[in-house]
Amino acid sequence: MYEVLRNRKMGKDQFQGHWQLAILLIKAGTADAIGCTQQVIIVPVSISIGQKTHLLDLLAQLPPSTSEQIAGAAGLHERYVREWLAAMVTGRIIESDAASGTYRLPAEHAAWLTRAAGPDNLAFQTQYLVLLASVQDEVVACFSKGGGVPYSSFPHFQRLMAEESAHVVDASLLQVSLPLIPRLVERLQRGIDVADIGCGCGHAINVMAQAFPKSRFVGYDISQEGIAAAQAEARWLGVTNTRFEVQEVSGLDTPGRLAARAV
Ligand SMILES: C[S@@+](CC[C@H](N)C(=O)[O-])C[C@H]1O[C@@H](n2cnc3c(N)ncnc32)[C@H](O)[C@@H]1O
Repeated sequence: MYEVLRNRKMGKDQFQGHWQLAILLIKAGTADAIGCTQQVIIVPVSISIGQKTHLLDLLAQLPPSTSEQIAGAAGLHERYVREWLAAMVTGRIIESDAASGTYRLPAEHAAWLTRAAGPDNLAFQTQYLVLLASVQDEVVACFSKGGGVPYSSFPHFQRLMAEESAHVVDASLLQVSLPLIPRLVERLQRGIDVADIGCGCGHAINVMAQAFPKSRFVGYDISQEGIAAAQAEARWLGVTNTRFEVQEVSGLDTPGRLAARAV
């Protein structure tokens, strides 16, 4: 992974996601056959910890530093920071200098592993690994009893999804995605009705509502948490042309409702 990231031989889309990350670790030969399994498990989990504790973001800003200095700057327990650094050095994500006892996150790694990387932040993806692992027993049970695993079993899903898609929406929705559809931007500027089915925390709707005040936007989602976050953001932004509803969309009868108000 390391060399691939360094050389940027692949586009981001080709190795986004934790499984691709794991496969890359194997392909890049960062560990031998036995150690590989450990690496594939421990390194992404350690990256996820680095994302959640903001240690990766911090290391990107610091000069080579000791574990005491890093822990001090982060306000975290040195014992845990030291163990985390050891795992990250073993995974070749962080570099260490034995003589000075210091650690550094190379800039070319930080470019893919920190919040400043925006949509390129692969560290973010590792949180899905942890999320999926937490529901493994429920998925295994479904193999015998059928059924499914409800959204309520994924307590952090909405927050994770919102953080990830906000990067993409902010970077590309208005400038890249909408102009791909002929005349859509002009129609949005004149004023049309727009529905986002499964809007999550509604950031896309709120961004469009700000940009196109003559259009009307509705977001539907089964998640109360998502809709509450969407409504809160709309209030915070002061947009009045959005509406968000908790709605199970499989029974949604929108065509008539939307067509009746379409321009
Ligand atoms: C992959 S997320 C995408 C969320 C949002 N569009 C974004 O990009 O951040 C899919 C969304 O669909 C919602 N969803 C899934 N099944 C649904 C259903 N049957 N009715 C309503 N919403 C549903 C989920 O709650 C989740 O917020």
